[in-house]
Amino acid sequence: EATAVIIVAAGQGKRMGANKNKVLLPLYLKPIIAWTLEGFIQVGQEIGSIVLVAHKDDLAYLQGLIDGNGWANRVELVEGGSERIDSVQRGLEALEGKGYQWVAVHDGARPLFTPSLIARCIEKAKLKGSAVASVPVKDTIKEASSEGVVTRTPDRKGLYAIQTPQIFSYPELVQAYKKLEEIKNTSEVIPTDDAMVMEWAGHSVFLALGDYENIKITTPEDLLIAEAILQKRHDLVGA
Ligand code: CTP
Ligand code: MG
Repeated sequence: EATAVIIVAAGQGKRMGANKNKVLLPLYLKPIIAWTLEGFIQVGQEIGSIVLVAHKDDLAYLQGLIDGNGWANRVELVEGGSERIDSVQRGLEALEGKGYQWVAVHDGARPLFTPSLIARCIEKAKLKGSAVASVPVKDTIKEASSEGVVTRTPDRKGLYAIQTPQIFSYPELVQAYKKLEEIKNTSEVIPTDDAMVMEWAGHSVFLALGDYENIKITTPEDLLIAEAILQKRHDLVGA
């Protein structure tokens, strides 16, 4: 049974410091978001509806991109909200009544996933109930106070860097977001991923093996790394 996809691309890319939303920046001849969309379309029939959640200012450009690539029958464009959680919620609403059992949430700014990563995560979610792409951290991670004093060094083994896709039961994720609505105003922490929303709602979240190449484009050097990864893939195909 097909998995629906919500691609969140409605941020502003402040840390990139470009003059527009980072997901529109060119990467190896195509906008970042075009790589992301094409990546899901290439997975094939395992993927159902694709909802692209976009910033108000980017809607016209993105509708043109969707139409121009012949993706209009696969991709629905909706407007996002001020926080990532608001954008995901808009995506969940767009899927209401479509009968999906599984939904994958993915960052628009994460264009370098492979079809096998998606397949691996879908398989794991259907087996365990959820699947969050992740990789063991390579750096030692410390907690520190706002003055820069180290307060704690958790054991590195057992720490994972969390990626997307994050795949959940659609009804469970909708319910978890409803629960979030109730506590949102009383908490100063805003969930930065969907797994956190599920955890807060009391659900078990299962990790799946991600990919060190599945980076999120966040700051300018990430563009250089992404170009190098795509160049390597291109060279491998040509060899
Ligand atoms: N996102 C979104 N809606 C928001 C905020 C973020 O759809 N209100 C999306 C981004 O477009 C991105 C993904 O969530 O694809 C991950 O967020 P992040 O890397 O933080 O992107 P930005 O918020 O755009 O960047 P920054 O935090 O540097 O401003
Ligand atoms: Mg952000």
